[in-house]
Amino acid sequence: MASITLERVSKRFGNLTVVDAVSLDIADGEFMVLVGPSGCGKSTTLRMIAGLEESSEGSIRIGARDVTKLEPRDRNVAMVFQNYALYPHKSVYENLAFGLRMRKFDKAEVERRVRRAAAMLGIEGLLARKPRQLSGGQMQRVALGRALVREPEAFLLDEPLSNLDARMRVQTREEIAKLHREVGTSMVYVTHDQVEAMTLGDRVCAMRDGRIQQVGPPLALYDRPANRFVAAFIGSPEMNLIETEIAPGPVVRIGGAVLPVPASGFRLPGPGSRITLGIRPEHLAIADAAGPRISGDIAMVERLGDRTLIGLDAAGIGLKALLPRDDALAVGHSIALAPMPGRLHFFDGETGASLAVP
Ligand SMILES: Nc1ncnc2c1ncn2[C@@H]1O[C@H](COP(=O)(O)OP(=O)(O)OP(=O)(O)O)[C@@H](O)[C@H]1O
Ligand SMILES: [Mg+2]
Repeated sequence: MASITLERVSKRFGNLTVVDAVSLDIADGEFMVLVGPSGCGKSTTLRMIAGLEESSEGSIRIGARDVTKLEPRDRNVAMVFQNYALYPHKSVYENLAFGLRMRKFDKAEVERRVRRAAAMLGIEGLLARKPRQLSGGQMQRVALGRALVREPEAFLLDEPLSNLDARMRVQTREEIAKLHREVGTSMVYVTHDQVEAMTLGDRVCAMRDGRIQQVGPPLALYDRPANRFVAAFIGSPEMNLIETEIAPGPVVRIGGAVLPVPASGFRLPGPGSRITLGIRPEHLAIADAAGPRISGDIAMVERLGDRTLIGLDAAGIGLKALLPRDDALAVGHSIALAPMPGRLHFFDGETGASLAVP
């Protein structure tokens, strides 16, 4: 087991910088999730940790060793890919054992490691099968098993669940979390799915355009997003982001509503300054008779079971609100909403940086 440290690691392809001075400390035993939209540099970062991609700049340490210039096989990390990359003509047992045999482990040790990994993953009954006789979820477990048998210092997983259907994804996600608790080895896990990031990570590293936007525990990113990008990326449905300005009072106006600005917690600019106001859909509620009201017409209704998601047109501003189930809500009805106290977010109108006091 080992920590992983990236120090100003960059990757350029020609004159295109796809990973830009990324510095990240992953603690020994930590589950770190790299999350961000397609093309933001997650896989490239992971591949540089694995040694499958050479870094253009910066250094990478695993434990006390500087591995920046080491070959992948000398880094003692195991990678799990999205496309399971199993050997189609070998049995599950042989798929698990092959890498160990290549590394000249003796027969008894190969047997011990394969049995142990198979038991942890619940695939003992599948060892004689060929990959084509497995479901997607089972293949993914074999791919995980092939990493497990190596007993590496760290696991690197690149979107390991994205080929599975929704139900299998949830199940395998739980199994990966359990596996991490059992082996206690550092894991770096790449996904573009914010739910996976939230549910799996001890900490989440949100990336955009090759740069780290914020690193922290999942709920810290949810509660205190560092900027507009993280605010929109973490949480579903997405946070409502409204371009507006601070008006004298100070207040902000949205769709006819006048919302007083919180007296503390934010370093807000003076009246007339452009800001972005953020309200999560789950932090809007039906307004009381007293207090601020954002009034408008319901433009969209999605009945989700326990909750009802509505789209509101408030004087030209579109807002989403996630309300308790309410079968009476229907398109065309008028409604008044209010943000829950203490749940507003403010971002700089230019840079998008959070205006919350750290
Ligand atoms: N060999 C390459 N040559 C040139 N550009 C590359 C190469 N490999 C990756 N890129 C570019 O680097 C950027 C980052 O790619 P990367 O695969 O790391 O993204 P990602 O965050 O993993 O995205 P996804 O979620 O789609 O897998 C992308 O714009 C990609 O086109
Ligand atoms: Mg990728």
